[in-house]
Amino acid sequence: MEENNTPSLTLSKTKEDDNALECNKLEENSQSNNDDLERKHFHRVLNAFKNYKRWALGQLQGALEGVARLPPRHRALLGGHRAHLEALQGAVGHNQHVLDALVRDAQHLFHEAPPGTVGPPSEEREEGEAEKVEGVLRQLFREWSLEGEAERDASFAPILQEIQRRFPQVEGRAGVRVLVPGAGLGRLPYEIARLGYSCQGNEFSLFMLFTSNFVLNKCRAVGGHHVFPWVLPLHNRSRPCHALLPAPFPDVDPSALPPGPAFSMAAGSFLEIYNDQPGAWECVATCFFVDTASNVAEYVDVVWHVLAPGGTWVNLGPLLYHGAKALALSWEELREIIAHKGFTFLREEVGVCTPYAQDPRSMMVHAYRSVFFSCTKPAPKAE
Ligand SMILES: C[S@@+](CC[C@H](N)C(=O)[O-])C[C@H]1O[C@@H](n2cnc3c(N)ncnc32)[C@H](O)[C@@H]1O
Repeated sequence: MEENNTPSLTLSKTKEDDNALECNKLEENSQSNNDDLERKHFHRVLNAFKNYKRWALGQLQGALEGVARLPPRHRALLGGHRAHLEALQGAVGHNQHVLDALVRDAQHLFHEAPPGTVGPPSEEREEGEAEKVEGVLRQLFREWSLEGEAERDASFAPILQEIQRRFPQVEGRAGVRVLVPGAGLGRLPYEIARLGYSCQGNEFSLFMLFTSNFVLNKCRAVGGHHVFPWVLPLHNRSRPCHALLPAPFPDVDPSALPPGPAFSMAAGSFLEIYNDQPGAWECVATCFFVDTASNVAEYVDVVWHVLAPGGTWVNLGPLLYHGAKALALSWEELREIIAHKGFTFLREEVGVCTPYAQDPRSMMVHAYRSVFFSCTKPAPKAE
């Protein structure tokens, strides 16, 4: 294994960081405010990881109290339900154990956490952040568990096939640079590097970055860890035992990459850290990403900017548009913008069935009918 194949998290400079060199006093103050906000956010995310157990046990406590309030004749009918809820408490404890290991490592990742600032868990629970930690457990299932393979086949396989179609060379593959914005826990960039291409994943969520750092840099043994992603919520189960099915991870050794291609994860916002990299990438691969934009046209601009002439953009995902105030374009409208920018469409398919972090045994099935496309930034015509 060559040194440069070891996955690494690199903290890329943001545009603001660069500008700070020329700042006047006022701007210095606003930079230090930004740093302060960043530090607070960093610690809030660390605390959210640490407070998972408290939040999850609170949810289970409500169910236990509901059982306790039942008339005795109904409680008598419930057999093992109370014992089941207690087993779920045990699974929550195990999840916390894994999250603690992950946070232990994250504390030194970007900011040196001053002693005592990360614990003990704060009284204030932010529901949204607790749900993000739950989302991390499910994302581990999607990206790094064996059972998540079906989901990866639905979402990642079409992208991987298209990259190989567009860049079929065997010799010199490492010279093809692929950028994956919104890389989550890094599995798609890892798979691209495993095919021999040089690849960088980009991600701005600390929830994802802490976790991908743990998987990519600390996990070596296949199935060396497990989480219980389906402990909560309690509804839509056909059998109680389904809530206790573990997701062992990783399903592969994340350091097992062929010699040659560079592989890294860059932390920061796609719009900020790549807008000064003209023509630096032969391929951009986006999966469940374009709808994270508040103005998706900006993403189109930056993808165009970073692609080398003749380069390819491969995308798969829905148009959920996460932000309440996001520009919520339909595929037809977004397609217009991409074509107007100058891209030439190579492939296009609407209605690709793609579940996302879906419990395979839940009675509720949630899947997107995603759009898949690839398009190229034409090379200038030779005179
Ligand atoms: C729905 S997830 C998809 C993750 C992964 N690609 C997958 O398919 O499993 C979208 C990811 O994009 C990240 N993201 C959103 N906006 C971003 C931005 N401006 N820069 C970098 N990452 C961003 C989010 O934090 C999130 O992890």
